[in-house]
Amino acid sequence: MSDLITIALAKGRILKETLPLLERAGIRPLDDLDKSRKLIFETNHDNINLVLIRSADVPTYVQYGAADMGIAGKDVLLEHGGEGLYEWLDLHIAPCKLMTAGFADKPLPDGRLKVATKYTAITRDYFLQQGRQVELIKLYGSMELAPIVGLADMIVDLVDTGNTLKANGLAPKEFIMQISSRLIVNRAALKMKNRAIKQVIEKIDAAVITGE
Ligand code: PRP
Repeated sequence: MSDLITIALAKGRILKETLPLLERAGIRPLDDLDKSRKLIFETNHDNINLVLIRSADVPTYVQYGAADMGIAGKDVLLEHGGEGLYEWLDLHIAPCKLMTAGFADKPLPDGRLKVATKYTAITRDYFLQQGRQVELIKLYGSMELAPIVGLADMIVDLVDTGNTLKANGLAPKEFIMQISSRLIVNRAALKMKNRAIKQVIEKIDAAVITGE
């Protein structure tokens, strides 16, 4: 009997690209993840379950071994810090850029800038490395609103097509880093369930399409 392996998946944008990846890996949920309200899903493999959670929670589930493995964006991994887990593989899915953004045609005010973001750890590091003093304002979403209502001078957010910024009169400014989704593995589970985990890693590894 093979050990039960639980894989944590992120709801939302990443899921659309995660499901085809799992399909290529031969891992198929028995229910439709997009339609179901369930949080735990069995798959065509008796020993592989999926749990569906908020993207920012994926590293936490894997850190504590509540999930043996997970698929999460590099952005949430950096914010989490990576304790208790290995970042195993770049899956080359859900690519986007982490950028600063502000008004398209308005110069930034002098003095200490107010920066609204949900990526406070990455943003703090970025401005610290540049020796720029900023005031960080932690938000949990809809960052684009912050400059419009005067809450912040600029934002740090993920940019894919740029449509969300444009629709709100904002433009991307400084490139911070390229983001993609990663396969992460709980450190203890890798030792305790080594055989089963390696088998799942091999399946997923073979399903990765690079150069996307
Ligand atoms: C991200 C990001 C932007 C948007 C950018 O949000 O926060 O709002 O996508 O994409 P675009 O450049 O193609 O317009 P996401 O959809 O991941 O949801 P979130 O608001 O929960 O972060």
